[in-house]
Amino acid sequence: MPTPSTQPFCASSIIGTGSYMPAKVLTNEDLSKLVDTSDEWITSRTGIKERRIAAPDEATSDMASEAARRAMTDAGVKPEDIQLIIVATVTPDMAFPSTACFVQKKIGASNAVCFDVSAACSGFLYALQVARHFINTGNRTTALVIGAEKLSSLVNWQDRNTCVLFGDGAGAVVIRKACEEEEPNAQGRVLSTVMGSDGNLVDLLKVPGGGSACPLTPENITSRPNTIHMEGRETFKHAVTRMLEASQQALEMAGLTAADVSLVIPHQANARIISAIAERLALPNEKVFMNLDKYGNTSAATIPVALDEARRSGLIKKGDVILLVAFGGGFTWASSVVRW
Ligand code: COA
Repeated sequence: MPTPSTQPFCASSIIGTGSYMPAKVLTNEDLSKLVDTSDEWITSRTGIKERRIAAPDEATSDMASEAARRAMTDAGVKPEDIQLIIVATVTPDMAFPSTACFVQKKIGASNAVCFDVSAACSGFLYALQVARHFINTGNRTTALVIGAEKLSSLVNWQDRNTCVLFGDGAGAVVIRKACEEEEPNAQGRVLSTVMGSDGNLVDLLKVPGGGSACPLTPENITSRPNTIHMEGRETFKHAVTRMLEASQQALEMAGLTAADVSLVIPHQANARIISAIAERLALPNEKVFMNLDKYGNTSAATIPVALDEARRSGLIKKGDVILLVAFGGGFTWASSVVRW
């Protein structure tokens, strides 16, 4: 028999959310002037109508910092209260230092430990889980978890298979240790997280060039190896299977079923992927949050941006069960259940 723990039960709670989307809007109509595509094709195959594009001098850390400031204001915490900053991104400002260190400097969070997590579109939920481990078992109590991307810097604007899908933006949450005895009704309590990876499928979705395996050279630069390459159909199938599995596992781990879910906030890659998952979980449309029509796929930023928008538009009430689920390059996938 395990010895009953005398430690108080403590968990991580999301106490604030924030997001930032760059001002420039790129519509399907605009894209149809760049490549052989149409608003009709993009809308019917993906659900995307437009996406945001960061300014040339706007780095991932600029967007991340603004989302972080908004999340801190929402949470009522000061930069000096932040003890950990994790940025999930595949578009860091530079190879090093980490984007999280740039955010630390820009927001003045001088007491934080800072690093990045790379898990493509699952990055935010991976980062959330890493932060939970620090908070639930360590001596840090307050963290910023950020998903931020400038995917426009990785897009090949001549490839219609991919350039219509992606956009830029950032979302952030503040999470804090909340112990059962002191705060039995803490809002935003993360009940469970599951994660998975399958590195055998690295080739289906990747940016092959620009790293150590294939540095950019004057000879290879014209073939654009430093842009997103994707096998769309295969990625689609794996996304549906893995996001469904992860959702069911995270719910089971939290002692809940799909019937208990108030709102699903899925990774925003394709409306057809989201509908397929919702249908298999028997969840009606009104319980599924989508904003990909406005922003496209912003990789690690989709879930924190959507969570922030859902909260601010009054879609999340106290006591609601929120299911977060993501899938991305690697392949990687993850799901979390949060009780609001
Ligand atoms: N405009 C017009 N036609 C396009 C196009 C575009 N932007 N992009 C592709 N097409 C064409 C293809 O060339 C193909 O033409 P062909 O039949 O003559 O060869 C046809 O449309 C169908 O292409 P296909 O790739 O089979 O389309 P699809 O229905 O699978 O939709 C995606 C393509 C990319 C939208 C879809 O596969 C998808 O969303 N995949 C998953 C993406 C994803 O989740 N990525 C990120 C994971 S985090």
